[in-house]
Amino acid sequence: MLHFEQTFMDFLIEHQERHKRTYHFLILMNAILNSAKRIQYYYLTGALRGNLGLAGSVNVQGEDVMRMDEIANEVVLHYLKKCGRVISVVSEENDDIVMLNPDGRYFVYFDPMDGSSNVPHNLPIGFLFGIAKRNLEGEEDMHLRKGRDYICAGMFVIPTGTFTIALKNSGCFRFHIDEVMNYVKPTKMTLPDSPKTWELSFNPSNWHTYSEKVRNWIEQNEAKYAFRYLGALAGDFHRILTNGGLFMYPAILNHPDPKKNRPEGKLRLMYEANVVAFMCEEAGGGAINERGENILDILPSKHHQRTTLYVGSKKLVEEMREVFRS
Ligand code: AHG
Ligand code: MN
Ligand code: MN
Repeated sequence: MLHFEQTFMDFLIEHQERHKRTYHFLILMNAILNSAKRIQYYYLTGALRGNLGLAGSVNVQGEDVMRMDEIANEVVLHYLKKCGRVISVVSEENDDIVMLNPDGRYFVYFDPMDGSSNVPHNLPIGFLFGIAKRNLEGEEDMHLRKGRDYICAGMFVIPTGTFTIALKNSGCFRFHIDEVMNYVKPTKMTLPDSPKTWELSFNPSNWHTYSEKVRNWIEQNEAKYAFRYLGALAGDFHRILTNGGLFMYPAILNHPDPKKNRPEGKLRLMYEANVVAFMCEEAGGGAINERGENILDILPSKHHQRTTLYVGSKKLVEEMREVFRS
């Protein structure tokens, strides 16, 4: 007997039909899937084709752009434009908003290649995206939406082959890539209550640069949990979503080289922090910044805005909120 797993597209069609939704979102998600599969292909063959090196330019964040960053960005822009449903996008790799289709229905915020330091090693990276819908009535405020106003957010871990997506008020689901490159077999993600499996994840080489409150908390709590750090938010958050615990990217405050201080943290609100925060809340967790504000409630004032991030099990997120309030 052959066994057929449910594909992501079948899952989504069922979801849309059950909620009496239009087919526009399906077309958009088809474009996202096409993008992810293309990036997966280029990444798997990247070492062979010489695509894993530096592109020789610097992005808006002042960081070196990898050849793969450019390829991935081009791929996503191509499919999102072609699907005709996207008004404009904010991409980590473009300084400005990219207008795609004035009649579109959605805004897409994405990081086409997250975790670039893993690229030269062909180790896991992510493709992260968040989607908001335009105001179909009344004036259009365009691009700067809170995470709370996203209708969906998701991430692919590449080339591992997992896809995790949260749909507003409908939960968070994980799929696995199969032999014919379909993402299949939805598993509903819920953060585990029991701290037995919980993990901590942050860049320990930055420890000395964190605020005193954060350093103290780490000192008092790190022995309770296993520590894991891959250096790609998609992969690190992937583990937290399964095992529970806390991922953090704190403010960098006391760096010996003051130019390297990042009082607002490193991660970007619209296409990194919001994406994982949205998935985490749908899986029963939470996400805050160092002001103790929910990530999803922050109204961005610029597209590439950064934020500090604490995301994971509710109990640990609330513990951190208390730490910042004290
Ligand atoms: P990007 O590769 O898109 O610039 O993002 C990298 C981010 C994120 O994936 C990761 O969690 C974090 O940077 C790692 O930073 P450190 O190297 O400072 O730990
Ligand atoms: Mn990134
Ligand atoms: Mn990136």
